[in-house]
Amino acid sequence: VTERDDQNGLTRRRLFEALGVAGAGVALGGLPGEVLARRAVPFHGRHQAGIATPAQPRLQLAAFDVTATARGDLRDLLRDWSEAAARITKRERSSGLTITFGLGPALFEPGRFGLDRKRPPGLADLPAFTGDALDPARSGGDLAVQACADDPAVASDAIERLLARGSGATQLRWNQAGFGRSSSTSRKQRTARNLMGFKDGTNNVKAENTRAMSRAVWVGERERPAWMRGGTFLVVRKIRMRLDDWDATPVHRQERIIGRHKKSGAPLGGRREFDPVDLNAGVESGDPRIPTDAHIRLSSPQANGGVRLLRRSYNYRDGVDADGNPDAGLVFIAFSRRLSQFITIQRRLGHRDDALGDFIVHTASAVFACPPGARRGGYVGEGLI
Ligand code: HEM
Repeated sequence: VTERDDQNGLTRRRLFEALGVAGAGVALGGLPGEVLARRAVPFHGRHQAGIATPAQPRLQLAAFDVTATARGDLRDLLRDWSEAAARITKRERSSGLTITFGLGPALFEPGRFGLDRKRPPGLADLPAFTGDALDPARSGGDLAVQACADDPAVASDAIERLLARGSGATQLRWNQAGFGRSSSTSRKQRTARNLMGFKDGTNNVKAENTRAMSRAVWVGERERPAWMRGGTFLVVRKIRMRLDDWDATPVHRQERIIGRHKKSGAPLGGRREFDPVDLNAGVESGDPRIPTDAHIRLSSPQANGGVRLLRRSYNYRDGVDADGNPDAGLVFIAFSRRLSQFITIQRRLGHRDDALGDFIVHTASAVFACPPGARRGGYVGEGLI
């Protein structure tokens, strides 16, 4: 059976499971040897799924423009999508599917849906950063739908279903696939590598660290607007890597650019991946162990007034451009309590300071407010509309 049988809601994976085929639930695109949790990730709850829940190996992230002009139509769309998402997530539980919704800044424009007074502070397109080369057609959007799963077909199918249901009220703006989660969001997960070959996510905020999650990620119970409490803000940056240049750079130089050893993931001078990073080592003697322009120094909380992000990025490969160069890199995805957290770090990274800047270019950008999770019978965004 290679095709999905929709009427029975049967997937190839589930058929194998039903047949008791050993290993069928293991790693379609997971890390070698990593057994993927096949428990359902519930759609309903205080927070939306797909944020703090362990990152699955596959991503399909789409942005939509709302064509409907009446507030009631927007509400009906959000309600319908939530109900459908709850059903699809349940049906595709063997693939660990999660669906996460976000609301773009343009929805709050005065005179559009009458939501301007409920706009979360700071929810606006990101400022221009040095070195940006953004494609407007692949940036922005009124609504975001992030589908993550063990199986790429399940993730893209979820988006297509919502697209079909939303026709008449919304249209697709951009749709981006990602693979090989390049961030771990849980201590239980092994750290994956990005396309530059480095472990990515070692020093990420981990979901088990509930203090860091409430300080860095979730909108607090006393913050305004009230409808965002338990929610978070999403930043998406499509970052293309100059992989030919990178691969031509000696490994010891690459390691100084990142600030970590390539093989182990340990900070320079350390031996194990999770060895603590000592940014002060060697600074006084004028020979910092972690170079002044290393990525992990410039993005660290110490360099950014304590600011942190929950990164949940994926690798992408979109073929080659007209010149035959690979279009590949990172779908950088970060969740934070305020968008200013990303802005602070990205400004610090700034093209000239960050040694990594010579090897990457940001080609698309979008931001969304992700409301709290829906209660049973409710929908995401209910508090807003
Ligand atoms: C293609 C672009 C990028 C690549 C290849 C990359 C790669 C890495 C790697 C290998 C690490 C070290 C392992 C880890 O702790 O996760 C790291 C850390 C980090 N990166 Fe990036 N990164 C990229 C873009 C960004 C951007 C745009 C931001 C935010 C504006 C960012 C923020 C961070 C942060 C906060 C850390 C953890 C620093 C620490 O506290 O140790 N990165 N990145």
